[in-house]
Amino acid sequence: MTIALTPGTFDPITRGHLDIISRASTLMDEVIVAVAESTPKHTLFSIEERTELAKQATTHMDNVRVISFDGLLVDFARKMGVSVVVKGLRAITDFEYEFQMNAINQQLDYRLETTFIMSPPEYMYLSSSIVRELAALGGDVSKFVTPEVAEALKFKFSDM
Ligand code: COA
Repeated sequence: MTIALTPGTFDPITRGHLDIISRASTLMDEVIVAVAESTPKHTLFSIEERTELAKQATTHMDNVRVISFDGLLVDFARKMGVSVVVKGLRAITDFEYEFQMNAINQQLDYRLETTFIMSPPEYMYLSSSIVRELAALGGDVSKFVTPEVAEALKFKFSDM
């Protein structure tokens, strides 16, 4: 049984992330969406909110689970008995960063393999910060996120 982790900050989860998760779920027996609790980024949504939004967005995918984690990804992978990480590659700018992350993770645990799925053109330049900025300025985010995420963004920014 091949279980893969799709890790990220998911602040918030976008249709770009969902495309990668959904495609990973057709290749793997099971996919665990790993929502990182501690991140150098100052997040708009709390870890509970990011996890809940990811759960709602993936509820229709039978072999997908969403779990939050704290600490190193390699430790979480070991704890879950997972040896494959699947990440999306968007523009070429992702490559350098992913290359570095993979090199570090390999040093920490050589058994953890990272594999990549290319983003389709429509999501090539999508990111959570673009979505947050668009929502903050009152723009329409419906093309980029699920209705639940769009609602959560609206609520968050109406509060500020
Ligand atoms: N579609 C749309 N956007 C995507 C995307 C896709 N397929 N893939 C990535 N992105 C975007 C995200 O939206 C995010 O955008 P933002 O910066 O504008 O908010 C950006 O790319 C980075 O993604 P993020 O979710 O933050 O993931 P990451 O690639 O930076 O990695 C972890 C985050 C959690 C995997 C990584 O930090 C980690 O492993 N942390 C645990 C600690 C650890 O083990 N560190 C490594 C050793 S020190």
